[in-house]
Parts: sequence; structure tokens; C-alpha cells
Amino acid sequence: MTVYGVGLGPGDADLVTVRGKRVLEDADVVYSPGRLSKSVVTDHVPESRVGDLDFPMTRDPEELREAWRDAASEVAPRARDGDVAFATLGDPNVYSTFGHLRRTLDAFHPDVDVETVPGVSAVSAFTTALGVEVDAGAGLALREASQGASPTGPDRMVLFKVTDAPATHEGLVDAGYDVTYGRRLFMEQGDTTVTSDPGEIAERDYYTLAYAERQSLQKDRPTAFDDVDRSGDGAEDGVVSGD
Ligand SMILES: C[S@@+](CC[C@H](N)C(=O)[O-])C[C@H]1O[C@@H](n2cnc3c(N)ncnc32)[C@H](O)[C@@H]1O
Repeated sequence: MTVYGVGLGPGDADLVTVRGKRVLEDADVVYSPGRLSKSVVTDHVPESRVGDLDFPMTRDPEELREAWRDAASEVAPRARDGDVAFATLGDPNVYSTFGHLRRTLDAFHPDVDVETVPGVSAVSAFTTALGVEVDAGAGLALREASQGASPTGPDRMVLFKVTDAPATHEGLVDAGYDVTYGRRLFMEQGDTTVTSDPGEIAERDYYTLAYAERQSLQKDRPTAFDDVDRSGDGAEDGVVSGD
């Protein structure tokens, strides 16, 4: 039988994919590593099928390795008898705890099959909520910006774990970026905020992302209007995008 890593999407229960919902409903036990993910899970399965896994609040690598070994030892026997789901917010392969479990299962319980059901990542929730268009040919980098960090370099970045927005903002603006923040996007637990003012989100909330774009970036995007003759000389004014 199988351990499924199921992406729950950003937090609204109806943004779980059809396949994700089916896997959650069919699983004999569903584990979820946090309070918010558990509240999405319990919209789809009864509490009696939600399993318990303890994760220590630590950055110590040895303690973490031990916690994942314990988690894998709890999950593996259940997966030998039936199907198990491990549900995480967003997508299970984007900055997610599922990677730790998958690697630990591969190393210590190689007989257990592991499959992933993709979910709507906060990256897509963010581009939608902000109306940011990542157009063809554009590069977009993912980075982490916890504890006030301000990673720089790429022209466009989505920054996860923005826990100190004012400090992150200062570093990014100094480096020549425009920045917009999104908090609790498509998440039924808590108010959604989209803002360019870090003061509005100065209070720490783990579910905060930022989008940073270089101020010097050319934003000349072709539009349907580009082939309209606005000069009256009968010639097209510009180019239309191929797709
Ligand atoms: C450990 S990462 C998990 C990412 C997740 N696997 C995904 O694909 O979206 C947690 C970070 O994702 C971001 N995040 C996740 N869901 C979010 C949401 N609904 N609104 C804003 N940020 C979110 C926050 O930056 C948070 O610190």
C-alpha cells in the first residue's frame, strides 16, 4: 500500500484538488503536521481518521532527524496494512515537511510506496491574489526571507516565511526592489491582506509571502491593442504576442 503526500492548497477547503480530496477520503489514516492543515483536513475527513504525529519546535538537525525517523516508524506500518495520507498546505514538494518524510521513508522503509498529489502552492495563490503576471520568458526565483532576511539577485522573487516584514522591506528597497506582501491568501482561517506597506503587517504571521520585482525591470508587455492602428496611417503600431 502507499503513503500519499497530499497538497491541500493555500487553506480554503475548496481549493483542495479533486484527486487530493479522493485520496484523503480513501486513506485509512490522514496525518497533517500543523493546526491549519489539520483544520483543512477535517473539512474532508472525520477526526476519527486523523492521526497524530509530534514534531518538535526545533532547528537542531539531530533532533529533527530523530523526529522524522519516529514519524516514519509510525507511518510505515500503517502503510503496510492500508493507505496513508500525509497532508501539507500548498504543494507537498514546495518548501514542505513532506520531503523530510519521503526521504526518511526511502532510507529506512524502502518497501513502502510513496506518491505525491500536487496542490495549489502559495506561489499560485499569490500571483492570483496580486494579479502578478509571470509572463512567458520571465524568470521567477523562490527564496526564503525568515527573521528579516532580504535575499537579492534575481529580477523577480517570491519570498516565503516573511516573519519580519519591516526589516525584509528595508533591505529589498535599498537593493532596488518594489515589494508587495500577501498574508493568509485563500485561507479561511484569518483575514487576507495584500499590501505594499510593511507597517500594515509588522506583526509576525508565519503565513506571509512577498513578491519582489526590480524597479529597473522593463515592463513593456505586448497587448491586443498593439496591432491596432492608433496613428491613422494604416500600419500596425506594434507586435502581438504569439500565444
Ligand atoms: C513551509 S512553507 C510551505 C509552502 C507550501 N508547501 C506551498 O506550496 O505553498 C510556508 C510558507 O508558505 C507561505 N504560505 C503558505 N500558505 C500561504 C498562504 N495561504 N498565504 C500566504 N503565505 C502562505 C508563507 O510564506 C509560509 O511561511
